[in-house]
Formats: sequence, structure tokens, C-alpha cells
Amino acid sequence: MTYQVILPAAGQGKRMGAGRNKLLLELNGIPVLIHTLKVFEEDEACSGIILAIHPQDESEFKALLKKYHVTKVINFVPGGEERQHSIYNALKTVNTNGIILVHDAARPFIQKRHIHRLTEKAEATGAAIIGVPAKDTMKQVQDGVVMATVERSSLWAVQTPQAFRIPLLREAYEKAERDQFLGTDDSSLVERLNHPVAIVEGDYDNIKLTTPEDLYFAEAIIKKREGEFC
Ligand code: CTP
Ligand code: MG
Repeated sequence: MTYQVILPAAGQGKRMGAGRNKLLLELNGIPVLIHTLKVFEEDEACSGIILAIHPQDESEFKALLKKYHVTKVINFVPGGEERQHSIYNALKTVNTNGIILVHDAARPFIQKRHIHRLTEKAEATGAAIIGVPAKDTMKQVQDGVVMATVERSSLWAVQTPQAFRIPLLREAYEKAERDQFLGTDDSSLVERLNHPVAIVEGDYDNIKLTTPEDLYFAEAIIKKREGEFC
């Protein structure tokens, strides 16, 4: 079981408000980008990483890869206007037919065992995503008024990685482009082909660093992993 992974890293980090790409922020003295890359660098099942980057970050990112001995990046592609465009630019450079993962560079806490379960599921079914059951009670709201309480047991918060057979993801991206469809994740593009997407239960630590308070959660997750208050 091997896979390649596309890491979209070409965002602006506007909601983080750090004035630069949030992937350059440090956790435990190491940039977020490197935390994420190291997971795949150290996973024997990962055969290559394709990194979508903003041209303004190129020299800094490449210097970091060198400094932290990241060797598995086989391709750099320019990011696009939206995350989906960045991923499509990366997907166009893939010319094999195995399994491809798409993983947000801003999710540094993904664990190898979940990657492997996900990859196996995608090999068996074509498409698999990782997520966690919703914990909060969910309401449907319109114009500041609750319209309904949504049955929680059927709701999952979805994360990345998302894993696909490469020809299937290619077809999904081609259709999305033809239809000018912009989704918020890769699964939504595959769902439009009416292909079933399996879900694998991950964990709540696999957060995406989006707003400043996520950095506090990140520090706590790191401490937990170091066994400081296990
Ligand atoms: N991303 C990308 N290309 C874009 C937009 C986002 O490659 N045009 C990447 C980001 O670098 C990030 C991932 O997609 O790793 C998830 O996006 P998000 O969390 O929204 O990051 P940003 O777009 O950087 O943040 P914001 O939306 O707050 O500006
Ligand atoms: Mg964004």
C-alpha cells in the first residue's frame, strides 16, 4: 500500500491574521509546514509529496525543506486563486494511477495510523475521507432564527486527508471545471459523480489551524503528545 499526497500550502492565512502565510508560524520552534511534511516524510507508505505553493513563499519554503531534511517533495506547483485550483494544479502533474491523498498543510496533527486506514479504504472503495462525529447539537438557522434541530447522529465534521483512486479524482476535477463548480473539499467533487465516498473515523486532534485561538489548541495537543499531562 503506497500513496502520493498533494499538500495545498498556497493560502494567505487571512483568518489567522499573522500578516504572512500561517504555515510559517512555529509550534515548538518548528514551522507548521514542516510538522505536516514530516508526517509524510516519515511514513514509508508515502511515495511522494506534491506541494502547491504561492510564488511569494517559494524561496522560504524551499530553504525550510533543506533545513529540515524533507526529501520527498517530488514537485512544486503554483497555487491558484482558491484551494481547489491549487489542488487541481498539483493533480495535473500526477501521471500514475494509484492512490492520491489530499491533505491541508494546515493540519499538522494527522496520525500515520489514520492515514493508513484511510488509504486502505480508498484502495477498496475508490474514495474515502476522514472525519469525526459532531459533538454539539446542530441547528439549522436562517436570518437569525432557528428553523430546525438537525438529527446529530447523522452529522460528521469532515477533515483531511481525503483519499481517492487517481483516475476518479481526475474525473471529478475535470467535471467540476466544466461545470464551474467550486467545492469546499475534494469529496464534494467526487460526490457529484455519484460515486460513493466512505468515511473513516479519525480523531478530534486533527484540527486545521485557521484562527489565532487554534494555536492554543495546537500547543495543548503538542503537550499532550509529549505526555506532559496524559
Ligand atoms: N490553500 C491553497 N491555495 C489556496 C487557498 C488555500 O493551497 N488558494 C491551502 C492553505 O495553504 C491551507 C489549506 O489550503 O493549507 C486549507 O486552507 P485554509 O485553512 O483556508 O488556509 P488559508 O486559505 O491560508 O487561510 P484563509 O482562508 O484564512 O486565508
Ligand atoms: Mg482559505
